[in-house]
Amino acid sequence: MEAFSVVGGKPLNGTVTISGAKNAALPILFACLLCRDRCRIQNVPQLRDVASTFAVLQGLGVDCQHEAEAVIIHTPPTLATYEAPYELVRTMRASILALGPLLARFGQAVVSLPGGCAIGVRPVDIHADGLRQMGAEVEIKNGSLVANCQRLHGADITLPLPTVTGTENLLMAAVLAEGQTILRQAACEPEIVDLANFLIAAGANIQGAGTACITIEGTSTLTAADYTVMPDRIEAGTYLAAVAAVGGEVLLAGANPHDMERVLSAFAGGGVEICPLDTGIRVKMAGRFSGADAVTAAYPGFPTDMQAQLIAANCISSSPTAVSETVFENRFMHVQELLRMGADITLAEHTAFIRGVDHLTAAPVMATDLRASASLVIAALAAKGTSTINRIYHLDRGYERMEEKLSALGAEVERIDGH
Ligand code: EPZ
Repeated sequence: MEAFSVVGGKPLNGTVTISGAKNAALPILFACLLCRDRCRIQNVPQLRDVASTFAVLQGLGVDCQHEAEAVIIHTPPTLATYEAPYELVRTMRASILALGPLLARFGQAVVSLPGGCAIGVRPVDIHADGLRQMGAEVEIKNGSLVANCQRLHGADITLPLPTVTGTENLLMAAVLAEGQTILRQAACEPEIVDLANFLIAAGANIQGAGTACITIEGTSTLTAADYTVMPDRIEAGTYLAAVAAVGGEVLLAGANPHDMERVLSAFAGGGVEICPLDTGIRVKMAGRFSGADAVTAAYPGFPTDMQAQLIAANCISSSPTAVSETVFENRFMHVQELLRMGADITLAEHTAFIRGVDHLTAAPVMATDLRASASLVIAALAAKGTSTINRIYHLDRGYERMEEKLSALGAEVERIDGH
C-alpha cells in the first residue's frame, strides 16, 4: 500500500489550484442518470471516489467518456441493469446517490446498503422514508435497498435531520415525480446548490436550494446540461489549515470565500490573514497560530469535514482550544495518531480539548479515513523530522495529487511504498 513520506518544518508559499468539489461532482454525476441526452461536466476532480462513481454508472450501462477538460455522460433510455452492487458500493458509500435517480427515471433500483464506515454507522433510513412518502416501495433484501414505483408523486416531506445525501437523493427523485414536492429541514450545503443548478440547467423546476425548504415542481423529462462543478471548499480549507500550522503565504486559486465563511472566520480568529480576491483567497500565517475553537454543525455551521484538519493545526497553537463533533459519532480516529506525534489532546465525549505544544515530532502513522489522513499530513508538515503516513489511499479518495500540490508550495512530500 502506498504511503507519504513528509519532511516537516517547511513553510508553504505560492499558489495552489483548488480542484472541483468531490461532494458536488458525485451527486452531479449520478444526476446524469435522470437526463435523456448527453451531459458534459467540467472541473470534475480526478479522485478515487470519482473513479468509483464511473464504475457504478458504467456497471449500470451508462456511457462515460473522458475529454481533455470534461467528462461526457450519456444514459440510454433503458439500462443493462438497475443494480448498484455491493462490491462497488462498499468502496464508496456515496453510491447510495444512484437510488433516487434510478427510481425517478426507471421506476426501479437495487442499491447495496453501504454499511457503516470508520466515522460512524451512517444509516440511510431518511432516504428510504422520503421515497416511500413519494409512493415508492422500498425494502431491505439481502443487504440491499430494493425500490420500485410506477411513477413517483410529489410529497410534503419533513426530514428528521438535514442529511446531505438524503436531501440530494430526494431532490433528484422529485424532479421527475408527478406534482410538487417540498423538502423541509433540508440540508443547505453549497454542494446541494450546485446539484440543483445542474438539474435546473437540464430542465428541472427547483426553488429554494441552499435553504432549509426546497420546492420542486416535477417534470416529465430532463434533457441535458453542460455544467462546471464548483470549487472544493474542503480542499481549500485543508490547505488553509496547513498554512496555519506551518506558516507562509498561499493563494488558494479558484476557492470561493462565500462557501467557507465559518472556516475562514475560525482561522482568522487564530491569527491567519485572510484576503478574499476575485481569483481565490490569499492566506498568510506570520508568527504562531493561536488556535480556534469550533463546534461542527450542518451548513452554514463549521463543517465536520474540516474538524480533523483544525485539530491538527490546533496541536501547535499558542492557546488551548476545544473542538466538538456533533454530526458523526466516531470522527476522532486521527486523535490517537496525533498523540503519537506528541500532541496534547484529551477526548471527553464529543469534544477534543487541545493544548498546543511547541512542536510535534515525526512518527510513522496510519490513515483511517479521508479527513483524518489530511489531518495527519498537516501534522507531519509541522513536525520535526520525517513522518511516514500509511494507507494514503484514504487521502486519494478526496484530494487530487496532494503530494504534487504541496511540493509546489515548498513542502517535502513524496509518495512511497508503505505497508
Ligand atoms: C455527506 O455525507 C458528505 N458526503 C460527507 O463528506 C459529510 O461529512 C456529510 O455529508 C456531513 O456534511 C458526500 O456528500 C458524498 P449526512 P452524508 O447524511 O450525506 C445521519 C467527506 O469527507 N443520518 O449529512 O452521508 C448520519 O448518521 C464525506 O467528504 C441518518 O441518521 O452525511 C449523520 O450522523 C465524509 N439517517 C448525520 O445524519 C440518514 O438517512 C449527517 O449525515 C442519513 C443520515
